[in-house]
Amino acid sequence: MRFDVLTLFPDMFTVVRDLGVTGRAHGQGKWNLQTWNPRDFTSDVHRTVDDRPYGGGPGMVMMAAPLAAAVQAAQARRAADALPTAPVILLSPTGRRFDQPRAHALAASAGALLICGRYEGVDQRFIDRYVDEELSLGDFVLSGGELAALAVVDATVRLLPGVLNDDESAVQDSFNPALSGLLDSPHYTRPEVYDGVAVPAPLLSGHHANIARWRREQSLRLTAERRPDLIELARARGWLTPQDERFLKTLLAGG
Ligand SMILES: C[S@@+](CC[C@H](N)C(=O)[O-])C[C@H]1O[C@@H](n2cnc3c(N)ncnc32)[C@H](O)[C@@H]1O
Repeated sequence: MRFDVLTLFPDMFTVVRDLGVTGRAHGQGKWNLQTWNPRDFTSDVHRTVDDRPYGGGPGMVMMAAPLAAAVQAAQARRAADALPTAPVILLSPTGRRFDQPRAHALAASAGALLICGRYEGVDQRFIDRYVDEELSLGDFVLSGGELAALAVVDATVRLLPGVLNDDESAVQDSFNPALSGLLDSPHYTRPEVYDGVAVPAPLLSGHHANIARWRREQSLRLTAERRPDLIELARARGWLTPQDERFLKTLLAGG
């Protein structure tokens, strides 16, 4: 799997390439990162990648031509490396919200070309011609697409086979099917009493079924409080057991 990232700030991507879980996996060849700077695809002496917006208004707009040339070069390199043509994804606040199912789908693919916008955004003609999908990190505006692209790369790479060891397994994380798409339960580690607060008793019981039930109920409680939409989704998918439903009823009753 390879991510090709079009960015004016390639150095920002050393974070996922060199550090932590994703850095270790990159070093092991489990995924590959290639950055492409649109400035390397300009023909003027100033290496211009942006210009003023037609119609006036503040800020600058990224020009279509350097981005288009960079996309073509990236796809050509992928073909030369026997990788399939990758979908072109623009990080944009106007895109569809990036989520765990999208990360799973990307992890099962050969990767993607990620386009990082800057300034006021990207000339729409580039988007119409080259972009297959727009992804947003959330309802806020970043200064550039790099932080969003880093999030997409990190969330995807940690799902690749063998990237996380058993202790770090993504299976039990929030949003995953193994958790019925619910939020994760709280975690505790040593000491047993910290600042006068003890670890919840079921976690110390050594009784696996009781521990699993406690974690499930904490997941249900947290999800019902913070993300009732995920409870509805799990219910619609048939992922809630009769025991789960009984517990949710006790929550509604103020239990
Ligand atoms: C300052 S923003 C442009 C915002 C744009 N004028 C708007 O209001 O929708 C510059 C770039 O940051 C990136 N960006 C900003 N917020 C983002 C978000 N929530 N998700 C993904 N990318 C984002 C996009 O690539 C965007 O082109």
